[in-house]
Amino acid sequence: MAGEQSQKDVLPTNEVYHPGIGSYQQTYRESIEHPEEFWSNQAGILDWHKKWDKVLDDSNPPFFKWFVNGQLNASYNALDRHIKHGKRNKAAYIWVAENGDEKIITYDGLYRRVNIFAKALLDLGIKRGDKIVIYLPMILEAPVAMLAAARIGAVFSFVFAGFGAGALAERINDSKAKMVITADGAFRNGKVIELKKIIDEALELTSTVNTVVVVKRTGSDIQIDEGRDVWWHDVNKDSSVYVEPEWMESNDPLYILYTSGTTGKPKGAVHGNGGYAVWTASTLKWAFNPGDDDRWWCAADIGWVTGHSYIVFAPLFLGLTSIMYEGSITYPAPDRLWAIIERYRVNLIYTSPTAIRTLMRFGEKYPKQHDLSSLKVLGTVGEPINPAAWKWYYENIGHSNCPIIDTYWQTETGGFMIGPQIGLGLPPLKPGSATFPMPGVEPVILDEKGKELKDEEKGYIAYKKPWPGMFLTLNNDPDRYKKVYFEKYPGMYFCGDYAIRDKDGYYWLLGRADEVLNVAGHRLGTIEVEDALISSKEVAESAVFGKPDPVKGEVIAAMVVLKEEFQDDTEIISKLRKRIREDLGAIYVPEEIHIVKSLPKTRSGKIMRRVVKAVALNQLPGDISTLENSASVDEIKEAIEAFSKEAKK
Ligand code: WTA
Repeated sequence: MAGEQSQKDVLPTNEVYHPGIGSYQQTYRESIEHPEEFWSNQAGILDWHKKWDKVLDDSNPPFFKWFVNGQLNASYNALDRHIKHGKRNKAAYIWVAENGDEKIITYDGLYRRVNIFAKALLDLGIKRGDKIVIYLPMILEAPVAMLAAARIGAVFSFVFAGFGAGALAERINDSKAKMVITADGAFRNGKVIELKKIIDEALELTSTVNTVVVVKRTGSDIQIDEGRDVWWHDVNKDSSVYVEPEWMESNDPLYILYTSGTTGKPKGAVHGNGGYAVWTASTLKWAFNPGDDDRWWCAADIGWVTGHSYIVFAPLFLGLTSIMYEGSITYPAPDRLWAIIERYRVNLIYTSPTAIRTLMRFGEKYPKQHDLSSLKVLGTVGEPINPAAWKWYYENIGHSNCPIIDTYWQTETGGFMIGPQIGLGLPPLKPGSATFPMPGVEPVILDEKGKELKDEEKGYIAYKKPWPGMFLTLNNDPDRYKKVYFEKYPGMYFCGDYAIRDKDGYYWLLGRADEVLNVAGHRLGTIEVEDALISSKEVAESAVFGKPDPVKGEVIAAMVVLKEEFQDDTEIISKLRKRIREDLGAIYVPEEIHIVKSLPKTRSGKIMRRVVKAVALNQLPGDISTLENSASVDEIKEAIEAFSKEAKK
């Protein structure tokens, strides 16, 4: 596979990017051979209120502690120190609304707004350690809310504003949030999404929330619950206040971010303060090496980890100017990304392969309408980038002058794990490979039993050592943290992906090795969709799987078995779609729903999703019985017949 993809090595023609892989290798070696010294120096990227006693406490694995007893505050590092050191009037964000309005907020402006809202949080009874859910669209109040929470030591859990009421309620319940911060609505593709209505519905299913703070964004007609709901503009009345930052121990939690797993409910990855902050700031610098005058645009949503780490924390820690765009990349036309790059002279852009493939489909004429010469670096994240999309991005957007920084990482890792590093020495690039690990990251490719594989052999990727950005635990579930990530290969972190290391040492990430879906660069659980389906009164059983898709990487497909009393009709399918949209959110709605008579199962009654998928994709192996020893072959055959009958209809 790697050989197939590697084609010819590619080097940007831009003089700035002389490959300097040698200095990367030296830094990398130092990080592995002298980790204490390395991370002690690297932690100087932040301002610490109190220095740590120990760089790494690994006495209770897998609960690793970084910069033990060090104290700092994330909002102080994002704001106060820049204001003190000459960046008061620098733009922190250039915010672009979907309708084209713009707002520019300086470091001082952001600092003032964060202090004012931090005071409002305190006045509303939020204390250090309390949990807050943030359910906001891409508006400036989102980073303000995150930083204000961080300033007073409250732990926030951002829920992506595309999630539905059921998904939201589950996250509120698991985090036991006392407050929700939301907006009346959000603009998306020229339409209004009624966020407050979704909150009202979710809160019917929860009991911990006392206060809902509502930002007025769309002017939608909303219900205000007098004892519970307050307007953002009413609680942000002060014009100048100062809130002393809470000094957080490095391993105190900063935020919880829920992500999908293979079983059960979503997992709340808990990130800490010190290690996470060192990691995000360092990785952004190493990989992209943004200059002080550069404009950085991470075009992800703030509700996913990419937005947390690379729209909010890392760029603010580094004192950069970021673009933040409210809306859809194809609205009002598929040149929106390119128009914003031209208008705001963006230097570094970071987006997903799905976004690139979506825009590529509209052809070169859209980027050609715009002057993209300000671009210096192009980044991607979220899924493997196929060489065709890589090439299109490289040639049509970067005009063969800009390196492509393909960053491989996860919600749990906090920041980039593997990716080319301009700041340390750019390697010759191979389209489709994320290239080399960040300092301190020691990947290994293993077989099922844990034997280390040779170069060019496909296996599971794991990490031999802890790294500062790693999550602390899973919220309320330390056992699951141990079990999911550290049991398969004792002493190592197992991330659930397949990979190959080629003979030149380049890493090629080859997708999930489990039943987690990756749709448009978003991690979604099959189990969540199945749960939503079987909670409908018509559905007896369901199997959900990912179907390869040329644009989104994967789309969701589902097979359902109806309860006897229900008829197979199109009305049921649209009802199921609607239900998933309302419960989980639009991104979870399956592209295909098939109604079948039965599903392949093991003798113990477990649905064999792998077989369902193989059948649906026409990849059925000759001998099905070997797939799962205890499988009932008859049942599988029946399902195949039912399915092909369905397909012929
Ligand atoms: C996948 C997103 C290949 C991978 C930051 C991982 C990638 C999952 C890449 C994490 C990449 C992310 N190349 N695959 N550059 N980046 N992935 O938690 O399967 O939403 O495990 O974090 O996305 O998704 P998550």
